[in-house]
Amino acid sequence: MNVYDSARMADVLRPLGYAPVERPEDADMVILNTCHIRERATEKVFSELGRLRKMREERMQAGHDRSIIAVAGCVAQAEGAEILARAPFVDLVLGPQTYHRLPEMVARAARAGNAVIETDFPVEQKFDFLPEQAAPQSQGNLTAFLTIQEGCDKFCSFCVVPYTRGAETSRPVQSVLAEARRMVDSGVREISLLGQNVNAYHGDDGSGASATLAELTADLAKIPGLARVRYMTSHPRDMEDDLIAAHRENAALMPFLHLPVQSGSDRILRAMNRGHTADEYRDIVHRLREARPDIALSSDFIVGHPGETEEDFEATMQLVRDIGFASAYSFKYSPRPGTPAAGQPMQVPEDVKDRRLAELQALLREQQDAFNADLVGTMQDILITGRGRLPGQLSGRSPYLQPVHFDGPDHLIGSIVKVAITARHTNSLRGTLIRETASAC
Ligand code: 5AD
Ligand code: SF4
Repeated sequence: MNVYDSARMADVLRPLGYAPVERPEDADMVILNTCHIRERATEKVFSELGRLRKMREERMQAGHDRSIIAVAGCVAQAEGAEILARAPFVDLVLGPQTYHRLPEMVARAARAGNAVIETDFPVEQKFDFLPEQAAPQSQGNLTAFLTIQEGCDKFCSFCVVPYTRGAETSRPVQSVLAEARRMVDSGVREISLLGQNVNAYHGDDGSGASATLAELTADLAKIPGLARVRYMTSHPRDMEDDLIAAHRENAALMPFLHLPVQSGSDRILRAMNRGHTADEYRDIVHRLREARPDIALSSDFIVGHPGETEEDFEATMQLVRDIGFASAYSFKYSPRPGTPAAGQPMQVPEDVKDRRLAELQALLREQQDAFNADLVGTMQDILITGRGRLPGQLSGRSPYLQPVHFDGPDHLIGSIVKVAITARHTNSLRGTLIRETASAC
């Protein structure tokens, strides 16, 4: 979502004459768009700020104007005052819900000469105030991100998102469809719908009622030229029947779902305030696989949540063995200031977290390798996103987001083709072009 937000900040600033540059050294303004989800992400912000300060001094010594340094995103939201205390040379601090006000903030910072801080949750919705996208962001312009929902009211014990992104809100259906149409008009063929709790989507459908994510994806699938739709990140609690059925009925929905479970232990799931059990998760996956037998799952895991015993960790390992994931992200629990889990007793020692993470990641890596190996010998629909590295080679992405390389002519870039997968490398697949047209799914 930060990639999407950064592109929208560029859109907001364009009318003021700002345009992207290749290197921060050349910039009149640098905005660090930050993440607060784990401690390590936050630490990076302060070390990066130190580098930017030095860079600005060197620029000024070389005779350039003083550049503006801004911190945006969730670290700004959560630690605005601390940023100004630790890095007083920062000019602007703005939370994720205020970036539509950037032009006014830049003007205020220039006028006042001292730091401007905007970390309220404004009553107006930023999406109502953002200009239309200049060009879709992310890899080339064949695939794009589109934020449809933001914020979270779930308050998992470990998570800062409800505090930094704020309460859950969904964009109206028409606003999402209009943005999607503009993307498709500019060549996009695959859209990833974004939201911290994307399957809790309940956008106004224009008649006073609200639409579900299943209904929204059905509307999106009708846009001519839009071949593929994805959504992330989903919560098991919001995996409603109509969304599961959509995976059977809507050919544009890709058979790859990121559905974080965090832990396989009911005790820890309860401590995490996740609102479901491990068996309920197994049941959702079972129903998804019934609806769409080729669906692959990815997940997030946290090891070492306060109170996690060996037995709890073993329950997580067992859940992973039972489900079989195509890919996953796994993390050591990182205490976040202000969250309930941070203050709980029975914090797990660092060396125990390290060991559990290594064990879990070894299993997940095995499963990912097995998943990729199983694809060798199959036929896959590949969206060609550009040229490969070697002459005559094309590069595309599979339904499961793997990069796939194969030989073929340039004029196929942007189309979806049938490719026989012939080999797998660590992070990509190799194939042979079979047919120049493929169905949408
Ligand atoms: N410590 C470790 N991992 C966390 N995540 C969120 N908060 C924390 C935390 N305090 C992980 C969760 C979430 C992903 C985006 O980041 O697994 O799904
Ligand atoms: Fe954080 Fe996701 Fe839990 Fe919301 S549902 S609190 S975003 S982990």
